[in-house]
Amino acid sequence: MERINIAVIGAGYWGRKVISEILGLSRDGFNLGLRSVVDSSPDAIEYCRREFGHLDYRSDYHDLLSDPEVSAVHICSPNNTHFQIASEFIRRGKHVLVEKPLAANSADAFELVRLAREHGRVLCTGHVHRFNNGVRALRRLMTSGVLGDLYYLHLKWTGLLASQSNREVISDLGPHPFDICNNLLDTWPRKVSCRGRGFRTNAGYEMANIYSEHPSGLDAGIELSWLDMEKHRDVSVVGSDGAARLDCIDQRLILQRKGGAEPVLVLPNNTLREEVLHFASCIEHNPSPEPYQNIASGTLGASVVRLLEASKRSLEEDRTIRVEMPHLEDSSIREQVIGLHPEQPSVRGA
Ligand SMILES: NC(=O)c1ccc[n+]([C@@H]2O[C@H](COP(=O)([O-])OP(=O)(O)OC[C@H]3O[C@@H](n4cnc5c(N)ncnc54)[C@H](O)[C@@H]3O)[C@@H](O)[C@H]2O)c1
Repeated sequence: MERINIAVIGAGYWGRKVISEILGLSRDGFNLGLRSVVDSSPDAIEYCRREFGHLDYRSDYHDLLSDPEVSAVHICSPNNTHFQIASEFIRRGKHVLVEKPLAANSADAFELVRLAREHGRVLCTGHVHRFNNGVRALRRLMTSGVLGDLYYLHLKWTGLLASQSNREVISDLGPHPFDICNNLLDTWPRKVSCRGRGFRTNAGYEMANIYSEHPSGLDAGIELSWLDMEKHRDVSVVGSDGAARLDCIDQRLILQRKGGAEPVLVLPNNTLREEVLHFASCIEHNPSPEPYQNIASGTLGASVVRLLEASKRSLEEDRTIRVEMPHLEDSSIREQVIGLHPEQPSVRGA
């Protein structure tokens, strides 16, 4: 099996974390390596040079499109560049992992899914909480019946971020909560309503409250904010016999019942490392005729982008939006999206 050589496009805050994981996996003997680091900013390249030392650094990705040594790219550039860069690499036969959100709008996101299928390439989205052991444990708790009848979910994604001129909070913080709801409930909401505001800038929303209605009647409230000094990445599930509260950062899960609160055992894991390994595992399995599970697939990413879009529309039109997900004819694609919880990915060690 040839080594999977990954180029990282965009070496800012998140790209540097991805570079670090790929280098770590390579050092640990997994069958993958870092081919190149691309960033259009000389400052970002200089920062990486100081942090990671000698690597193949570039300011432009175009030469890599035809580089036979590049098997895959992990795209960590700004959201509005995702579609252009991803579509170019897929068309040139490379496997692609795009950070969340998959694209700036759902038409582009579903076009990436179509392109990946047409070219037989792996398309993953950076929904890193698919790999979070805390979320896995919460799902097990929900299906165990210990919470009784499940009433509703509440997700709180907040923190303090400087005023942003060209971004808004829904696309930035919304993808993970929507993805986690799908992971826990196996459904997409049928209706979405959203209220939100910008305070420090007129450019975009800085906080939003989203209410999403699922077909089972188990609804989710999602609170997003760049204005709150407290950073939260929290999921609560409330039922008739108790509530479960998960902190997605340190993967601490608490079960609260009438008798009191008790911790639920979770072995915290490195979610980004697992995400990269899962991408490599999909690439390894891709040539085989045997079906494999892409648990962070492009279809999943595109469906989440559709919900971000519906939330923004609800805000702008001041009404509840009915969400139509595209009918997925192909059952293998459906399988990639709904409710699969495999064990650790299995990229062979060298
Ligand atoms: N999965 C997660 O939890 C998570 C967390 C943070 C960020 N992200 C995502 O990662 C992406 C990057 O976010 P960030 O916070 O690192 O932003 P950032 O601004 O810190 O980094 C983006 C980098 O991309 C570079 N860039 C811009 N255009 C480029 C191009 N055409 N070619 C090459 N490089 C280019 C910029 O110079 C910059 O260094 C976003 O899509 C964001 O949503 C995901």
